[in-house]
Amino acid sequence: MDNKKYLVTSALLYVNNYPHLGNLVCVISADVYFRYLKLRGKNAIYVLGTDEHGTTAEVKAREEGVTPKQLVNKYFKIHKKIYDWFNVCPDVFGRTSSKTNYETTIDIFNKLNKNGFIFDDTVRQAYCSKCKKYLSDRYVEGECPHCGSEHARGDQCEDCGKLLDALELVNPKCSVCGKKPDVKTTQHLFLDLPKISPQLKKWVVGQGKKGNWSKNAITMTNAWLKEGLKPRCITRDIKWGIPVPLKGFEKKVFYSWFDAPIGYISIVRENLKDWHSWWHEPKNVKLMQFMGKDNIPFHTILFPSYLIGAKDNYVLLDQISSNEYLNYEGGQFSKSRHVGVFGDDAMKTGIKADLWRYYIMVNRPEKADTDFSWEDFQSKVNHEVLAALGNLVNRVVKFLNKFYDGKVPAGKLGKRDKEFLAHAEEKYEFILALLDEIKIKDGLREIMNLCKLGNQYFQDKEPWKAVKSDEGGKESADTALFVLANLVKDIALLIKPFMPDISEGIEKQINFKSTSFDELGELSIKAGHKVGIAKVLVEKLLDEDVKKFKEKFSSNKKGDGDKKGKVKKNEQKQKSFDVFKAELRVAKVIEVKDHPDADSLYVMKIDVGSVGKRKIVSGLKDYFSAKELVGKKIVVVCNLKPAKLRGVKSNGMLLAASKGKKLVLVEASGSKVGSLVSAGVGGGTKQKQINIEDFAKIDFKVKGKKVFVGADVLKTSVEKVVVDISDGARIS
Ligand code: 2FM
Ligand code: ZN
Repeated sequence: MDNKKYLVTSALLYVNNYPHLGNLVCVISADVYFRYLKLRGKNAIYVLGTDEHGTTAEVKAREEGVTPKQLVNKYFKIHKKIYDWFNVCPDVFGRTSSKTNYETTIDIFNKLNKNGFIFDDTVRQAYCSKCKKYLSDRYVEGECPHCGSEHARGDQCEDCGKLLDALELVNPKCSVCGKKPDVKTTQHLFLDLPKISPQLKKWVVGQGKKGNWSKNAITMTNAWLKEGLKPRCITRDIKWGIPVPLKGFEKKVFYSWFDAPIGYISIVRENLKDWHSWWHEPKNVKLMQFMGKDNIPFHTILFPSYLIGAKDNYVLLDQISSNEYLNYEGGQFSKSRHVGVFGDDAMKTGIKADLWRYYIMVNRPEKADTDFSWEDFQSKVNHEVLAALGNLVNRVVKFLNKFYDGKVPAGKLGKRDKEFLAHAEEKYEFILALLDEIKIKDGLREIMNLCKLGNQYFQDKEPWKAVKSDEGGKESADTALFVLANLVKDIALLIKPFMPDISEGIEKQINFKSTSFDELGELSIKAGHKVGIAKVLVEKLLDEDVKKFKEKFSSNKKGDGDKKGKVKKNEQKQKSFDVFKAELRVAKVIEVKDHPDADSLYVMKIDVGSVGKRKIVSGLKDYFSAKELVGKKIVVVCNLKPAKLRGVKSNGMLLAASKGKKLVLVEASGSKVGSLVSAGVGGGTKQKQINIEDFAKIDFKVKGKKVFVGADVLKTSVEKVVVDISDGARIS
């Protein structure tokens, strides 16, 4: 018997905005897994809360014209309300700005310091004389020194992915006011990761295997270790945070990634008297942590380092479940541009929380990014929850009421029934094994398959015929309904962690409640048991509603607060993004073949650098030979919705200009393959997917063999793109 304690945590999300569906993946995953553990009779708690410190909160507070404290108080309430609505039920809930977290953070810091893992050092840092602030890396923008991208942030270039130091940026700007920052020196405290490294490495190697860490967790952690751990600065020159309790550093606060994970400990500490038994008895506790992939190194390297270095017998991470990203309609959710469905939006749609939970879990980005699309959501709700699960429950309960006066008949199991029950039993075991391994999405799929099997069994047994038979056939109908009533009971139990409300609804209809997975497969609904009345469990998602929602959330202009203090520059930036949403990149033509079914089309293979290789269909055959095209560096639209052209899928579109009978390509022969092509502040990486109509709205103009979007010329970081045609040609 496993008498371990399970300490389940979900990433504590930043409270400076509304969480969107993608943010909720790890929160709902942890909730499902925790509910699963409880139903398996484990001694488990689920810890959730909010991450409240840091520069992001300070900046957002300034934008909204409030203090950081007021800001986090506002969003704390919003997050809590959203979690409650989504049926997320942590045992303990708290905030990193709590008094307890101050105390725990300072205690851990003091221990690290006492144990010789903290040192101070002078650092050069960007300082904005206009904003009168030291700028943390992500608040400096400029050109990437590695790939030349013009949209690099001081912490990372999203284009080439390289981690940066703000001082490396070419033409740096303060992202708040646009002024070029000065460089000043300042003292900071560092965690001596190289000193902790030998112990940490040993632990990572053992625990990675023992805890069956996900592939992305192991890869990312190893990459950090392989590069060699560097000392990590754990203090910041901002006001909002936990003040550093050391002489000379009183005006500084801890880096938010220092106190945030310590929040997990504090939240238990302030809520449970026996918190020690959860955080200080490593032999008895399994710490299972859920998060998005960008949080991995903080949980596999930094947080364990704090705890190892404190030498206070803390519980360390056992198993990590790190999800990839959930995207929105082929693009990214955007907090700043309000594209996508946010928690509060979901609440207002009238679609039940459990259906959102279902969709997010069945579409859980476990091994790769997945996409939220309204059509897919509608299809999964209507075809899976409604047609497979809802239908099974409904027909069984209705049938019992219609033909048996609501009383479950006695069953006499025949061959088909026994086979079916044995099959169901196998499925139960399989589902539990999947959930044990936190394969939540596969587990849920199997539950749905079980519903389909149940429907199939109903069809095969044809009880509607058998029940009316005078020649002893009624027994077969009785048995089928006896088996099906018990199956519905088990399905209600299995879906409990995923869809608690719907499960409750089913249990009401069959008038039977299960409380433990040990009851699975028991034929505990006996002959004579009276069921309730059939009710519609789930409403169908209608085409017109889906259409309405899709339109509404494609450019969701929520967030009055956002507008309040925003500088004009940002408004202009926003406007420009609205008109120019194409992700244009330089691509090299690798191969050109004739289209199998169209005389004027080519099927081309192109190399788009970091984006990968793509196949596109183009109408160039009347203008260029295949030989002329191979090797050319052209400009392609990378975020265009793939389309089929005469039966061949085209994943992108090249830019060409035409006037009269002449057609030429837009070229960028001196630029690196894959580099971005943009105009003004428009375009750029990670744009949402667009369709050809959106693309057609872009205001291209050809002038002096250059292409303009409005007043801005189209260029890469090293050259303006060239189009060898007279003024006024049309770009398409
Ligand atoms: O990514 C985020 O939203 C972070 N606030 C997660 C922090 S997890 C933990 F360390 F608190
Ligand atoms: Zn500034």
